Amino acid sequence: MLPIFNKINDSDQPLLIVNGKFTYQQDGLYSLHNADFLKEPKFKEAYAKGKATNSWKGDPAWRTYIACWLASQAIKLEGEFVECGVNKGGMPMTIMNYTPFKESGKTFYLLDTYGDLVDEQISESERELGIKKGSYEQDYLEEVKNTFANYPVKIIRGMVPQTLSEIDAEKISFLSIDMNVAKPEIEAIEYLWPRLSKGAFILLDDYGWEKHFHQKQEHDKLASKLGYEILSLPTGQGLIMKS
Ligand SMILES: C[S@@+](CC[C@H](N)C(=O)[O-])C[C@H]1O[C@@H](n2cnc3c(N)ncnc32)[C@H](O)[C@@H]1O
Repeated sequence: MLPIFNKINDSDQPLLIVNGKFTYQQDGLYSLHNADFLKEPKFKEAYAKGKATNSWKGDPAWRTYIACWLASQAIKLEGEFVECGVNKGGMPMTIMNYTPFKESGKTFYLLDTYGDLVDEQISESERELGIKKGSYEQDYLEEVKNTFANYPVKIIRGMVPQTLSEIDAEKISFLSIDMNVAKPEIEAIEYLWPRLSKGAFILLDDYGWEKHFHQKQEHDKLASKLGYEILSLPTGQGLIMKS
């Protein structure tokens, strides 16, 4: 049961009848706006490589495009790339093919249990919203190692926050956070925040998703504590820039 968000049609406004064809209708987002990035060869080729990792049940093209755009800015800054919550690596695979990552000399740190959520980190509120262990395969480390055999990555297996000390990067310019559970996400940002370069991005994958409302509440609290504002994106992502 998700009685949380105000819906336009909860009020007395009539349901919007759309006149015209959607340019995009997947992954919780329906749009009439320009989505020509879907046809750009550079994005299409990189996204196809991301999809080939078998990370996604759905088709998160717009989310992935946003990550690619941010990564193309972050690659010009001092610092490495980090993802906490990698699964089979669809996002880093797309990013490393969309940007000149190999030529940049950077390393992409990939942190995951490579075996599902951590039960004791799931709060009661999250359980009520349906977050539970069992959504991911039990051991996909070898698959991920094979997938990234020819890429400049450091694969770090284990539970965040315990594994954060294995990130030996002095500076970070891109941090992707996607662990589906608030506790390790908050701890990861608090731990890595001092190492983020000026202008670095943090991309929160789950920020606006109804099922992940508890994450939003915790990220909003952290934003007040650390002094930044989170941009809520129509894709369901949240964006932070370190100023
Ligand atoms: C939604 S998936 C990540 C999807 C990936 N970013 C993508 O776009 O394909 C969430 C991942 O977070 C991992 N995870 C959850 N809690 C974790 C923790 N405390 N430490 C490390 N990994 C964790 C899970 O094992 C799972 O692979």
